[in-house]
Amino acid sequence: MKKFLCVLAVIVIAIIGIVTVSRVHSVRANNRALVAYFSATGNTAAVADRLANAIGANVFAIVPADIYTAEDLDWKNDKSRSSMEMADRSSRPAITNTIDNIEQYDVIFVGFPIWWGREPSVVDTFLESHDFNGKTIVLFATSGSTPTTADAAENIRPIVPNATVVDGARFPVDVTADELKTWAGEWL
Ligand SMILES: Cc1cc2nc3c(=O)[nH]c(=O)nc-3n(C[C@H](O)[C@H](O)[C@H](O)COP(=O)(O)O)c2cc1C
Repeated sequence: MKKFLCVLAVIVIAIIGIVTVSRVHSVRANNRALVAYFSATGNTAAVADRLANAIGANVFAIVPADIYTAEDLDWKNDKSRSSMEMADRSSRPAITNTIDNIEQYDVIFVGFPIWWGREPSVVDTFLESHDFNGKTIVLFATSGSTPTTADAAENIRPIVPNATVVDGARFPVDVTADELKTWAGEWL
């Protein structure tokens, strides 16, 4: 009887162990956050990669069909490609890629450089190319000096009316992984 009870106890402990391990595993595999970003000169890419690593999320780079050259990015020239795109609210520069499995994500952190106070038009193309129904989109940005993503949030809300768009944060390029993790924790 004693032997039987010992064997039973071992079996029960083993089952509890297996259930616990598989739950931990499924929580990890069930990470429902994505970091998507556009970056023309690398600043936002650096912050996006740091954020994705810090929270264990997948990362998606929004790649324009025509990559922006230094000339394209010349904001002092009102005839440069970026100046003309940003002056036209309906501009939707083509992108090369879309997220295949958007349904697996609940929270999408969307990062970009601030251009003319708001999100670059190519980010609008990205947003219009997916079904964000019921999802939470948390904005983050880098910039020269513009301190918030408030104007971008205002522009983006009507573009994705069925999503909850969070006016997130503007980060300095050297924001730390710990700071990003603490910030992102609110939506995870
Ligand atoms: C076309 C253009 C417009 C910009 N407009 C602004 C702006 O309105 N406010 C600001 O603070 N920075 C502005 N910047 C600076 C970028 O936001 C900043 O350098 C950003 O970190 C670049 O990110 P990236 O390296 O990911 O492209 C602008 C840059 C470009 C190229």
